[in-house]
Amino acid sequence: MNKLMISDLLKMKEEGKKITMITAYSFPQAMVVEEAGVDMILVGDSLGMVELGYKDTVPVTMDEMLHHTKAVVRAVERAHVCGDMPFMSYNISVEQAVTNAGLLYKEGGADSVKLEGGQEMADKVTAICRAGIPVLGHIGLTPQTANLLGGFKVQGKSLEAARKLVEDAEALEDAGAFAIVLEAIPGQVASLITERIKIPTIGIGGGAGCDGQVLVLHDMLGLFKRFTPKFVKVYADVYSIEVNAVKKYIEEVQKGIFPSDEHSFTMKEEVVKELFKALGMK
Ligand code: KIV
Repeated sequence: MNKLMISDLLKMKEEGKKITMITAYSFPQAMVVEEAGVDMILVGDSLGMVELGYKDTVPVTMDEMLHHTKAVVRAVERAHVCGDMPFMSYNISVEQAVTNAGLLYKEGGADSVKLEGGQEMADKVTAICRAGIPVLGHIGLTPQTANLLGGFKVQGKSLEAARKLVEDAEALEDAGAFAIVLEAIPGQVASLITERIKIPTIGIGGGAGCDGQVLVLHDMLGLFKRFTPKFVKVYADVYSIEVNAVKKYIEEVQKGIFPSDEHSFTMKEEVVKELFKALGMK
């Protein structure tokens, strides 16, 4: 199966074909989403919340991102795999940003990296792209700096804030980003940005006018129970399926139903008899 290239993603925008992106953090999750035929897989720093149990994405480290990115990459042939840059892995300097993007790309095996922020991150995006590493931008609600944004709230609702988002998107495009995630912004603003820039927009709470959509796997499978943002559609209740399966296992072990002969190994009766004899047992 051929790897989906950035040129293919740009062509999809030109041809009006929607781009699908979903997060995955492990080998089996990546197998599932790849088999389902998703175009892009984001090894998001959301793993901090949905896989590692942190209260937000701030504590996620480069080591954790590398570990999970490598696992995902091992499962994927076709989909474009993007590795998320965790908080403080790119915020300090251009040099730090290029070094850590290089780790996710070279050691982690990601096809691109994502970082949060607009105009203020343009120098870093330019430098990472110059180093030969594709960059996915992320504006609107940027979870790593949610405290500065007044919490996990819809962004860009005022004229001024909407204008800033448009300028951020244009700055990222000029800096060389190949696509931009638009998180939790009014649909009208997302559509306007989508029309103004040539690179694809991937919405998460950005409405139907974006060139593509992304969801967190655990949210859409009903696996993350702490809260469900308004922009999430829950497609399955995998949590309940898993709990029920484990309950059944516990019950069957307790009642002696599992393991049955079907799931057990046997040896020849005469060998068993000899073994008993050799051990002086009856
Ligand atoms: O980390 C993540 O999963 C993300 C998506 C919400 C876009 O950044």
